Amino acid sequence: MSGTEALSNLAREERRFPPDPQFAAQANVTAEAYEAAAADRLGFWQTQADRLLWSKRWTQTLDWQPPFAKWFADGTLNAAVNCVDRHVADGYGDQVAIYFEGEPGDRLELTYAELLSQVSRAANALTELGVKTGDRVAIYLPMITEAVIAMLACARIGAPHSVIFGGFSAQALFDRITDADATLVITADGGYRRGAVSALKPAVDEALAKGETNVKHVLVVKRGGNEVAWTPERDVWWDEVLQRQQDTHEAPALPAEHPLFILYTSGTTGKPKGILHTTGGYLTQTAYTHHAVFDLKPDSDVYWCTADIGWVTGHSYIVYGPLANRASIVLYEGTPDTPDRGRFWEIVQRYRVTLLYTAPTAIRTFMKWGDEIPAKYDLSSLRLLGSVGEPINPEAWIWYRRAIGAEKTPVVDTWWQTETGAMMISPLPGVTAAKPGSATRGLPGISVDVVDNEGTPVGNGGGGFLVLTEPWPSMLRGIWGDPERYQQTYWSRFSEQGYYFAGDGAKKDDDGDLWLLGRVDDVMLVSGHNISTTEVESALVSHPAVAEAAVVGATDPTTGQGIVAFVILRGDATDGQTLVAELRAHVASEIGAIAKPRQILIVPELPKTRSGKIMRRLLRDVAENRQIGDVTTLADSTVMNLISEKLPAAASED
Ligand code: WT7
Repeated sequence: MSGTEALSNLAREERRFPPDPQFAAQANVTAEAYEAAAADRLGFWQTQADRLLWSKRWTQTLDWQPPFAKWFADGTLNAAVNCVDRHVADGYGDQVAIYFEGEPGDRLELTYAELLSQVSRAANALTELGVKTGDRVAIYLPMITEAVIAMLACARIGAPHSVIFGGFSAQALFDRITDADATLVITADGGYRRGAVSALKPAVDEALAKGETNVKHVLVVKRGGNEVAWTPERDVWWDEVLQRQQDTHEAPALPAEHPLFILYTSGTTGKPKGILHTTGGYLTQTAYTHHAVFDLKPDSDVYWCTADIGWVTGHSYIVYGPLANRASIVLYEGTPDTPDRGRFWEIVQRYRVTLLYTAPTAIRTFMKWGDEIPAKYDLSSLRLLGSVGEPINPEAWIWYRRAIGAEKTPVVDTWWQTETGAMMISPLPGVTAAKPGSATRGLPGISVDVVDNEGTPVGNGGGGFLVLTEPWPSMLRGIWGDPERYQQTYWSRFSEQGYYFAGDGAKKDDDGDLWLLGRVDDVMLVSGHNISTTEVESALVSHPAVAEAAVVGATDPTTGQGIVAFVILRGDATDGQTLVAELRAHVASEIGAIAKPRQILIVPELPKTRSGKIMRRLLRDVAENRQIGDVTTLADSTVMNLISEKLPAAASED
């Protein structure tokens, strides 16, 4: 994306949202944090690491052998002790750790003391089943308390977990189990999904039948109550084995660089990458960012992150960051529209949720469903809203703050990746004047920049590649079993400068604030101009008739690439040629004539992965009239049929 043309000012929404003085006055973190970190970055991270409980304090903060980092390497600690035991020892055993709500409506409250006894039993159970420090454990569970308990039990004994999202197939499971060489799998009979039991164990059985693995046991939680096939000797019921354990467990002190987990990122092509995270630095940064960006007050807040535990957001901001900070968290098993579209808001109302963290794709869906739904609930407990996963278009940002945040809550747009382990770019809610659509700037202690093709920083007003210029505590320590690929993927693009290549395009506005433009592979080249798909999508969504938009570049004989847009209309908008013409004109006026889509298709749905990312590859197939490629990673594989059916109605002009 060399010389990205600053075609437009993505900030069509000109309003700024400075922190409410009342919020600022009570905020956990002030502007001084930036100064402290700028003056002494490593000293700043030492201070944050000191918020944790260490068995032995480190002497060396950072050992940086590019691109291999060790943080706090000679220190020792235990992640589970930090997330659980510490709080019980400090007298908070009766505080609720988890408010669990199952999709069918069953509820369970688990205090920190109860969590400690469950995690201890589970740690003893894993040990009884032969799991030793260093062995890998695969976790394939629904969003139930046992998922959190299983992760913490693994952390407690130092057995790195590899959580595999419950929506993945047997093949994906097999690939991940063998790549990590797991010796035990924790699963459930089934979980609830859209009002019915969706079986999980059959996928594990099928995966383990696909070939050679080192799996000795499959530990099965009873959740769905569905019948499951049983392999005696290998299969063990979670309940049975936990019941016979002691509810105390002596946690070992583990080196700060002991592997905590492996998490596979799908990537659009190639074999999934097992992203490796270790203990001390990861816990330091997840806990600090959760404290700073969500402003958690452990005595009074109720925190809800709606992500699935199978993604990094679930690891860092359901489990490790919040629990290290003694948060009371909400854990919800199901989908936002079961039994109806008010489910999320009913949960916010019931538990008096104060801090909510969700994704733009969900926000746009709620926006599409209409204001009347959240308006029926009491959302007055909310005092901060967060967003993560993709660029949030200004339209959705404004809607989120207005319809959910009663026009008063800060909205924090947090940029980070599976690889970064924790938030990297985000406003600080008591400090930053937020700009809808901009993640603003690097957090204290984080060094980010935007560079051109040669790795030279662009000035304010310029665009290019997002890079991280200094190591950070929660950075990935590598790709499991593939140091070569680690070097190649992240450190070869700007090897001269020694920068981490994030793979995202970004712009700096005149104030130096950052606007994320999506993956660089999502940038289109139209008549020699670089245009980001996000920019055009944002322009489309700013039109009142549009609920959601996805844009791709399709090969074009004259312009190199032509812009093709797929658009979902809002509930009350009508489909039609006039509207299509209007939308094209709208994009032209918002960005410039060069960005006017060649073609706009009105569609009922968009193809998304299970983590909510739009699969542009499939849309490009449609736009280029090709056979539609592999749809197995789609959350709903029938979506492509719905889109293809709309093809004859496609409006193409000029
Ligand atoms: C990619 C990482 C971080 C947890 C969820 C995704 C995109 C993420 C933002 C944001 C713009 C964002 C980037 C990034 N992304 N957050 N606030 N604004 N883009 O983790 O699956 O590893 O994906 O998600 O493109 O590189 P992931």
